[in-house]
Amino acid sequence: MADETSAARNDARLAILELANMISVPMSLNAVVRLNVPDAIWQNGANTPLTAAQILSLIPTPSSSSDPENLQRILRMLASYDVFAEHVDPASSTRSYSLTEIGKTLVTDADGLSYGAYVLQHHQEALMRAWPLVHEAVLDPTSEPFVKANGEPAYDYYGKKPEMNALMQKAMSGVSVPFMKAVLDGYDGFAGVRTLVDVGGSAGDCLKMIMRKCPSVVEGVNFDLPEVVAKAPPITGVRHVGGDMFKSIPNGDAIFTKWVLTTWTDDECKLIMENCYKALPAGGKLIACEPVLPRESDDSHRTRALLEGDIFVMTIYRAKGKHRTEDEFKRLGVLAGFPRFKPFYIDHFYTLLEFQK
Ligand SMILES: C[S@@+](CC[C@H](N)C(=O)[O-])C[C@H]1O[C@@H](n2cnc3c(N)ncnc32)[C@H](O)[C@@H]1O
Repeated sequence: MADETSAARNDARLAILELANMISVPMSLNAVVRLNVPDAIWQNGANTPLTAAQILSLIPTPSSSSDPENLQRILRMLASYDVFAEHVDPASSTRSYSLTEIGKTLVTDADGLSYGAYVLQHHQEALMRAWPLVHEAVLDPTSEPFVKANGEPAYDYYGKKPEMNALMQKAMSGVSVPFMKAVLDGYDGFAGVRTLVDVGGSAGDCLKMIMRKCPSVVEGVNFDLPEVVAKAPPITGVRHVGGDMFKSIPNGDAIFTKWVLTTWTDDECKLIMENCYKALPAGGKLIACEPVLPRESDDSHRTRALLEGDIFVMTIYRAKGKHRTEDEFKRLGVLAGFPRFKPFYIDHFYTLLEFQK
């Protein structure tokens, strides 16, 4: 028997209980987004520390039986993950909460966007049904847990449910807009490109921002599934084209794709990249923007966010879809015919990967 009195065993018992209760973290995050707590605290930038009761009085749909104590329990736990800052009045011990930098990512902007939609998207019932089946991805990788739980692949399922499709688009826009704002200053790979195709472009936000920043790009083609582009808003200079990237991709001087390769198997990625290759002129670039795993595992926030996203892909999109290392992406490029490869590390989560024909 191990000596349970040692400091190492004490730490281990604590760590395993923290891990075993970890589900409280994302589900509480989902709860505060559903309750509109970040917007209630933000109040057009005031971000004044508020008690749970004050927050409840500001949320759009309070009920007469709303319980401030339970909200405070959630806020307190999320404060330990630095989503909220906790302020304790020394005299009365009253707790109040403001938003940290992390909490501010959940505040809706003038266009109604934030990371909140991404949090809600991940915790919809159909996705949640897949999570108890993660072990099935090990026992039988021929179909992902989402299929086992819901009978069909995620994109087919979203396609039949307009509200899920709309939330997916909102989630993608909410994540992509701040990312594009951050990287476009540090990357000049679109210079000289006239026609740019965005493969899996969703609502077209990335294309819109690239075109705003890079004046040479005068024609944008936002290419996605027909049911997705049908809901995309009109954007000046952008043609929304519905289709299937596994069949063919519209021609362009360069191709951009973000957060697409990751959700597919190696064979599927090779097919998508071969279709990109066919759609490009000699010397043309495929600019992919994907999470790239470090070779070594460690406990940094970056590595954890990337490895956690990898399990999400395995569970929801493809049992053999995955986050890849730089070497794995380079190898896929070569298999699809691209002789040149260059990575650009600007953002902590996504890496820009240039594959040149
Ligand atoms: C994770 S989302 C990324 C969206 C967008 N690029 C972004 O980063 O905000 C993946 C996109 O691929 C699209 N997609 C899935 N299957 C596709 C297919 N067969 N052909 C074209 N697009 C597809 C989805 O509809 C979705 O918009």
